[in-house]
Amino acid sequence: MSQQVAILASGSGSNAQALWRHLGEKSLAEVVFIGCNRGPERAGIYERAEADGLVVERFARKDLESGQLRKLLEARMVDWIFLAGFLMRIPRDFIAGWPRQIVNIHPSLLPHFGGQGMWGHHVHEAVWSAAEADENFRTTGMTIHRVNENYDEGEVVFQAEVAIDPRTDDPSKIASKVLSLEHTYYPKVAEHLIRDEPIQKSISL
Ligand code: GRF
Repeated sequence: MSQQVAILASGSGSNAQALWRHLGEKSLAEVVFIGCNRGPERAGIYERAEADGLVVERFARKDLESGQLRKLLEARMVDWIFLAGFLMRIPRDFIAGWPRQIVNIHPSLLPHFGGQGMWGHHVHEAVWSAAEADENFRTTGMTIHRVNENYDEGEVVFQAEVAIDPRTDDPSKIASKVLSLEHTYYPKVAEHLIRDEPIQKSISL
């Protein structure tokens, strides 16, 4: 296992868990840091990690912004950083440490429904309103992209698209369809990135 991975999250951590399980099962990479900027009372990732025998390390915004977190991850020889429901903007100086190796997942088909404030249920409610109002917005999905200093604007690596049925869907059904796509594809795409293999850029279900 030559590659070292860090995972940063802010909440439930279901994608983080899908990632660390996949990387571990395939002996693809060593997860040397699982970090969360919230405490266990607000972030389910701690329980998930504990159940899998792993530890989440808490850090604060100032650690990210002062360069302390970058130093820590450099000391652990991190090659790839996967953001999994991580809500803070990544500073330019931090990105400079891993210019193409910080990857994020977003629960819509970017560039639609991205940007500051567009996370979690906010995304799915906006997607649902658009789908109800306009037949050109009857799909949604998930995007995996490289991270730059603007929210949700880095190079798209992969998108999976799924139909919205305006008669039977609602924001919570859309959310669970998208989450299931995320759990399926984020680990696979992470694997291809780590192996430096070509990735089919989009898939439509
Ligand atoms: C996912 O929908 C992801 O796309 C977004 O935040 C959500 C995180 O969910 N960035 P979880 O914490 O992985 O369960």
